[in-house]
Amino acid sequence: MKVLVIGGGGREHALCWKLRQSPLLEELYCAPGNPGIAEIADLVPLAADEIHELASFASDVGIDLTVVGPELPLALGIVDEFLSRGLNIFGPTRKAAEIESSKVFSKQFMQEHEIPTARFTIAHDRAEAERAAKEYGFPVVLKADGLAAGKGVLIPIGKRELADALDLFFDERRFGSSGDRIVVEEFLDGQEVSFIVLSDGTRALPFAACRDYKRLGEADDGPNTGGMGAHSPSGVLEKEMASSILEEIIYPTLEGLVSEGRELRGVLYAGLILTEEGPKVLEFNARLGDPEAQPLMLRLEDDLLPILAAGAAGSFGVSRMAFKKEAAACVVLASRGYPVKPVRGEVIEGIEEAAKVPNVTIFHAATAAVDGEVVSAGGRVLNVCATGSNLREALRSAYGASQLIEWPSKILRRDIGRAVLDPGSGSGIWRIPADLRGD
Ligand code: AMP
Ligand code: GLY
Repeated sequence: MKVLVIGGGGREHALCWKLRQSPLLEELYCAPGNPGIAEIADLVPLAADEIHELASFASDVGIDLTVVGPELPLALGIVDEFLSRGLNIFGPTRKAAEIESSKVFSKQFMQEHEIPTARFTIAHDRAEAERAAKEYGFPVVLKADGLAAGKGVLIPIGKRELADALDLFFDERRFGSSGDRIVVEEFLDGQEVSFIVLSDGTRALPFAACRDYKRLGEADDGPNTGGMGAHSPSGVLEKEMASSILEEIIYPTLEGLVSEGRELRGVLYAGLILTEEGPKVLEFNARLGDPEAQPLMLRLEDDLLPILAAGAAGSFGVSRMAFKKEAAACVVLASRGYPVKPVRGEVIEGIEEAAKVPNVTIFHAATAAVDGEVVSAGGRVLNVCATGSNLREALRSAYGASQLIEWPSKILRRDIGRAVLDPGSGSGIWRIPADLRGD
């Protein structure tokens, strides 16, 4: 099969790495890709949001299956575009992807289909938001409706912070039209976990549980990022809980989407919080997480290609995916200034050496090839991933290899996994980071 992967981050490198192992694969393309992906796929110089040009490319080259990594092309309707041209693609249509691209839609959908989530109100202006915040009490959670690259959530802890946060949404319009309406919701307490499945529209194939570390700083401090590390198993999710999440959250969501004419063929990612009343949904994504995909691809036993091809056609034909017993971990190496204004263009040393460490795999994210050297080209630069017989071992290898890679502005979190391996350490204990407090 000829396969096209869309995107150019660590998630897409991991997807290409996994697809490359398939005996069914004949040719692998990636748009736009990155220098790491270039070693295993042919790069196509098109951005992920150039959906018409991507469809023309797929049609000209005779691509048999396209797999979409990031959310933006999905929200722009890349799947609708491909389907209208008779091209096979694994991913949700624009209407199905609204479960991620509109928080207002997603909350109303959960309410309608009785999927456990925080109580909420949709506010169109300050007065509505203030009334709702009063009802839920502090801290209260405010979410921009539209895509905001992981930065659209504020958690004011008091009246003054609420006023500042509402200034950002309604006066300064920091989130543009994504903040025209906001979700005001009650604050929930508990451990967070990512529960990700592949769906062919009606059936779900769950991935092994996974946990990501969203804050920039150690002990979960500092601003929210796309994710600074991840590991699987999650260390917090029991087997029985996984089946109750499937019954009470995943299947009602897939069925609800079908009943609304929004059948989701693609990835359903539930960002959950494990509360005393049971798991509740913080958010849905309609794509694989990044960096969650990296450890998940390392642990996936099955050939991914026939599963995605069958899912795109509407029926998986298998009832589960098998995962290796070993654990996998990912440590993100980022550049100073991330997530606001990362330093770019610095030469990176030591990637080849790090890749030789036993059980280690390096996935590139924001790197660029300049005059034969690999340079940093954005916020999250490299993913140092490793497998091991348990989480501790996988993390030890990933951190060992991380030390061999250097560039002047390299930053990383040194406590990925600590929250579950050493719960007494204070890492992972929920505190409201400064940027989310709205002060
Ligand atoms: P979201 O983009 O909706 O996942 O929100 C980003 C982050 O804000 C989550 O990963 C949580 O850490 C936090 N968050 C969101 N909603 C809530 C809530 N209702 N209660 C507590 N924390 C929340
Ligand atoms: N790592 C979180 C996400 O991909 O949304």
